[in-house]
Formats: sequence, structure tokens, C-alpha cells
Amino acid sequence: MEAQARIRALTGLLNEFSYRYYVQHAPAVTDVEYDALYRELQELEAEHPELIAPDSPTQRAGSDLSQDFQKVPHIRPVLGLANAFSDEDLATWQTRNRRLQPEAAFAYTIEPKFDGLTLVLTYEQGVLVQAATRGNGVVGDDVTASARTIHSVPLRIPVADAPPPPPLLVVRGEVLFTKEAFAALNRARIAAGEPAYVNARNTASGSLKQKDARLTAQRDLTLYVYDILHADGPLPASRFDRLNWLHQAGFLTPADAVRVHDLDAVSARAEWWKKQREKLPYEIDGLVVKVDDIELEGLLGVTGKDPRGAIALKFPSEQVGTRLVAVRPQIGRTGRITPTAHLAPVFVGGATVSRATLHNYDQIAQLDIRIGDMVTVKRSGDVIPYVVGPIAAMRTGREQAVAPPEICLECGDPVERREGFVDLFCPNAACPERVFQKVSFFASKGAMDIEGLGPKTLHQLISEELITDEADLFALKAEQLLPLERFAERKTNELLKSIDQARTRPLHQILMALGIPGVGGVMAKLLLESFNSLETLAAMASKVRSLEAELTAQLPPMDEAPLALALRHAHLKSPETAIVRKLDELFNVPQTSEQVLGLLRGILKATDSLLAVEGIGHILVEQVIRWFSDPQNMRLLEKLKAAGLGLEQTAKSRASAQLAGLTFVITGTLPFMSRAQARSLIEDHGGKVTGSVSRRTSYLVAGTRAGSKLTRAQQLEIPVLGEEALQQLIKDGNN
Ligand code: IVH
Repeated sequence: MEAQARIRALTGLLNEFSYRYYVQHAPAVTDVEYDALYRELQELEAEHPELIAPDSPTQRAGSDLSQDFQKVPHIRPVLGLANAFSDEDLATWQTRNRRLQPEAAFAYTIEPKFDGLTLVLTYEQGVLVQAATRGNGVVGDDVTASARTIHSVPLRIPVADAPPPPPLLVVRGEVLFTKEAFAALNRARIAAGEPAYVNARNTASGSLKQKDARLTAQRDLTLYVYDILHADGPLPASRFDRLNWLHQAGFLTPADAVRVHDLDAVSARAEWWKKQREKLPYEIDGLVVKVDDIELEGLLGVTGKDPRGAIALKFPSEQVGTRLVAVRPQIGRTGRITPTAHLAPVFVGGATVSRATLHNYDQIAQLDIRIGDMVTVKRSGDVIPYVVGPIAAMRTGREQAVAPPEICLECGDPVERREGFVDLFCPNAACPERVFQKVSFFASKGAMDIEGLGPKTLHQLISEELITDEADLFALKAEQLLPLERFAERKTNELLKSIDQARTRPLHQILMALGIPGVGGVMAKLLLESFNSLETLAAMASKVRSLEAELTAQLPPMDEAPLALALRHAHLKSPETAIVRKLDELFNVPQTSEQVLGLLRGILKATDSLLAVEGIGHILVEQVIRWFSDPQNMRLLEKLKAAGLGLEQTAKSRASAQLAGLTFVITGTLPFMSRAQARSLIEDHGGKVTGSVSRRTSYLVAGTRAGSKLTRAQQLEIPVLGEEALQQLIKDGNN
């Protein structure tokens, strides 16, 4: 008989898998695969109960009973949930239910599925009298004392002025750690020299089952309630309405529960949750889809331990174990070397992964990750997959330590470890891999948008030494390309055409494509509002750097670069005094020389306009200055300019030039326009808008509720304009 053979095979397989998982800690299959086989067995056994073997894994009644707690019977079986992993699974589930109840209209309530443990709470006349774990579903452990320590467990309901509850009420919920509470617990453990906990769910379970409830009280647990097991009295007839009822009574209930009327809406909601789940304060491992009509749910009945009227729609597992095959250094465009894990391919978070990041070599050593290890890999949301850590219990002894590279494997230069950085760097700007990364970023979509320059082509051009930096792209000629392998006439022409088109990209796009750390699209535009050309920026930067060099010569050696020190204090009312105080503190010399003061003033003055750009902080200012004073970068700008790229801002088409040469700051609420509208009005007429009031500000445009900017303008005696006066100024000009 076919079913019998299959049941026997599945029983054997699943038992072997669970031995590998629980005893050997060497999972042979993923959770999803295991669950699929388990379900197949469950279904076959439901059809042929006479074939259930005593060693069937389905008979391993999941139980959290422990010896020390008093056992209490549940008023009603505390059921579990069957799993679904796809839209097809949901459709099968619905079809089966429809067959059982052909007349019924199906609506569904969809809730997040908490990754915690069940707690059953009993209230008599609104007073909490008992809390029990699920146990085997029939009897549970009495954990009343522990449960009372959880702040979200109401000791008496209703909490506010909701209607009184029925005389006897039994509810069911889930105890868990919020992400923040779990992180805080681990921070405290690490600070106390104890190892961090890995699994929030197990830790929550352990915390609840402390014999001494004072220990539970030290753990910041939370309870969410989603079900009513029993009530002596009338209740809403729908799941969705019951959630509201519970919420009213004073319980925390699942966030963002909705009621929908078909499976398409369920799928749409599942897609929404996949993006949303990151934002929840707690971990969820899927959704629960429940037939909304409680009576209908009852009519559908139960299979084994699961109600037919509800199903768990599980998200793909985000964390799995796999083999670490190799660790290879990857070099970024700044020369930073990131160790990359090469993995045995594994399905995680909805995709097959064979690479993951390992952050840096210090961390590899700290976590003691070795080549050949089974490692845990996490892939969730938009985060790049990363290696969480090794599964040390699964070592064979043949694993090998990871040695950080001493030379760059791409160019052979010795790698550098910079003061204060955890990362290793390849210092060679001409390193072919660095050139590759830089140029491919430069050409990428959203940067210079050069088509036809895929990785293969670019590698080829670099190894032919046709390209050593971004600017070399613009010097490429058909005669150089045509003799190369895979460069037919058409491909050559298309590439050259697309490079040619890139010559006319607007300046903010060029600036962004240069890949200056911290300068993305938005920042590039902001910078160009204060600096019309890259040359002005470069001139400022080189001036600042020479002042810094002089300053360094004047000061004893210090940990922080003098430029960083100056910029860090620049936003203060009197930065010089603050810096002088800091220097005295550092070097214990009560008098700072006039020369040092002069240099400091020079730096502050030169960087004033850059610091005034709204949204730019001192760290970014320092990065921009360092980039624009690096001779190699200056050579690049020269080359780009020679190639015909516009490194100056071309004047926007303007309504007028009435406000040319004037600098404005806008503050408060204007009567008829938004601040953004006021800004474009000013810019359209040739004026400049900055973020903070300084001596260079020509006018402050102020609406109602203007705060500190108005006070500052008044102190500096800068004229203040209302909206109408601004319009007038545009009409009359600044005469
Ligand atoms: S309803 C008929 N709703 O998931 C009611 N359970 O994998 C059956 N769980 O044992 C349970 N969040 O401990 C339900 N919103 C939710 C849930 C939920 C988490 C747990 C529950 C159950 C397990 C099944």
C-alpha cells in the first residue's frame, strides 16, 4: 500500500533529520524543507490514523511541562496552528474549508504571529487568579507569580472605564521580549562579563519559568493577548471585534490586525508585512490568518491539535546554518578591505545566498570564526546577508583560522591599518581592483549613467591599461577598442556614444559620482548651493589644509587632527574660546599663542560657508576638505575638466537677477508660501539661501514663530523681511 510505504519513509527521514538537528547540531535540511515533509506526514496520518507509528515524529507531543511547577488543567484544549508557506498552501486550506462549509462566506482576520510562548490567563470577576503555560495543551505549568511581574499583564480588568468583563474570563496570549528589551538584557550581561543570550524566545521561556518570581521581575517581558478561550457571558461574534474588545479591556493586542474578504487581500497584506515587520518593536515569524466568524470556526472543527479555522502563514526563515567555505578579502573604492564569506549555497530570507559579509577581521577573531565552520547566516529585509557566528559545537577539529591579508591580493602592496580604524586598507590608488570599484561606481546608474560598461568590459579595459581612473573613460578611442576581444564595431560605437553623452551631466551628478564619502545625491546638490564650482571648493580646501599644516607644526602631537578639533567646535557661539580651553586642557599650557589663535580663526573663517550648508555636519565637512585637498583627486578633476566636463555650475534660467549677490535665511511660518516655495522664489531671482544666520547674511525672511534665528539676526543687526517685503524687494531690487 502506497500510503503505508510513504508514511514509513517519512517517519524514518524526519526522525533522522531531527537527530541531526537536535543531537548532532548539524541540520541536514532547512526548516522549510523539514516542515514540508512533516506536513505531508501529518496529512497522510490524518487520512490513515490506523497507520500512525509509535515512533512517528507527530507523536512527540510538544510539551513545556517541567517538574517543579504545579500542574493546572486548561478549561479547554490550548490548540496549535498548522503552517502554510505560500499562496498555494492558503488556497488549499480555503478549498478544504469551503468543502466542509459550502454555504458560508469566508472573511479573515490577519494578525502578526509572535515568536514567543503561550500564556493562558484566568480572570475571576475581573481579577487575575491564574497564569499557566500551554504545557501539552491539556495541562500547563502554573506560573502565576512570574506572570504577575510582567507589566503588560493586567492584574484586574477592565483597566480603564470599559464595560465589566464576564464573571469568568480565560484569555490566551504570547509572552516575548521586545527587540529593545532583549538588546538591553544582553548589554547588561556583556557589561557584567556574562555571555549574551542568542535566542529571544528561549530566553523568554526561561525567564518566565524561574522558580523565584523575583528573577522574572528583572526581565523586561511583554504579553500580547490574541484569543479568548472561555467567557461566562456574551462576547462579540467575530475575531476582529474580539481583538478590539480585548484591547478595550486593557490588554496589549496584535498591532495592525485587519479583516479582509478574500485570499488576494491576504497575499497583499502578507507582502505589506514583509516590509513592515522590521519596524515592529518585536520579532514575528509570520502571520496568523483566522476565519473571522467564530461560529464558523467552531463548525470547521479541529484536526489533531490544530483548528481548521486558523493557519500560520510563515515567513521564510531569516537565519540558517551553512558551511563557511572560504573567506576572501574584497577591496572597495576607498581601498577598504572587507572580508567576504563564501558559503555553501543556502536558502534564507527568501533567496539563495552564497556570499555574506563578515564586517572586518577583528570581528572574525572576536567571534572565532574559522574556515570550514558551520556558521549561522542572517538575511533579513534590505540588509546585506551577514555571518552571525560559528556553531562551535559542530567543529570537527579540521577548521582553520582566518588570517588577515598582509598584502593586497590584487596589487601586491602591503595593506595598511590606519590609526583608529578597525578596517584594513589597500593604500595603492592605482590598485586595479580599487580602480575597478571607483570607475564602476562613477559609471553606475544614478551616478554618470554610462551604459555598456558591465564588469567584464571594465575589467578588460583596466587590464589593457586603457583606464587608470574615471577620467580615462573620456579619452577612449575606437582605434583602441576595436582590436580588443569581444569589441565589435557596434559595441564600440555604443559605448563611446554613451560615454560622450555623459560629458554633459549636470555638476551635482558629477560631484556625486566622484564617490566622496558621505556625499550622495542630496548632499551634492546642497554643496553646490554654496559653491558654484568644484574649483572654488578645492581652493578653499587647500587653503584650509595649509592652515592646518601650520597649526600642526605649532602644537604638540595630539590624537585628534587639529582640523577635526576646530570643526567640532565651530557651531558654538564663541568657538575660539572653546577650542583654546580644550587645548589648555590637553597640553596644560594656560596661554595659547597669538599665532595659534590666528590660524584657528583662519580655519573657521574659511570653512564658514561650508558649515553654513543646512544638513552638513562637521565630520562631513572634514571629509570634503580632505578629499578636495588630495593632490591625486585634484589631478582627476583637472583631467575631467580637460575632457570637457562642466565643473562649474551653469546659471539656472532665472526669472530675474534682482537678488543677485544677496544671501537669505528663511525662518518661521510664512503666511502664503512654504519655506521651500520662498527658497525657490529667492533662487529664481538670483539670490542664495543658507541655513544659518551669520554676518554674511543679507536678510532674514521671517514668518510667525521665528525662534533663535530671529534673535541672532537682531543681535547682528541684519534686516528682517516679511513675505510681502520680500516680494517688494524682488520688484524693486536691492537699491
Ligand atoms: S492563534 C486557534 N494567534 O503560534 C488559536 N497564535 O505556531 C490558535 N502564536 O501555539 C493560536 N501569535 O502560541 C494565534 N496572533 C496569534 C499568534 C499565535 C503567535 C503562537 C501560538 C501558537 C503558535 C503556533
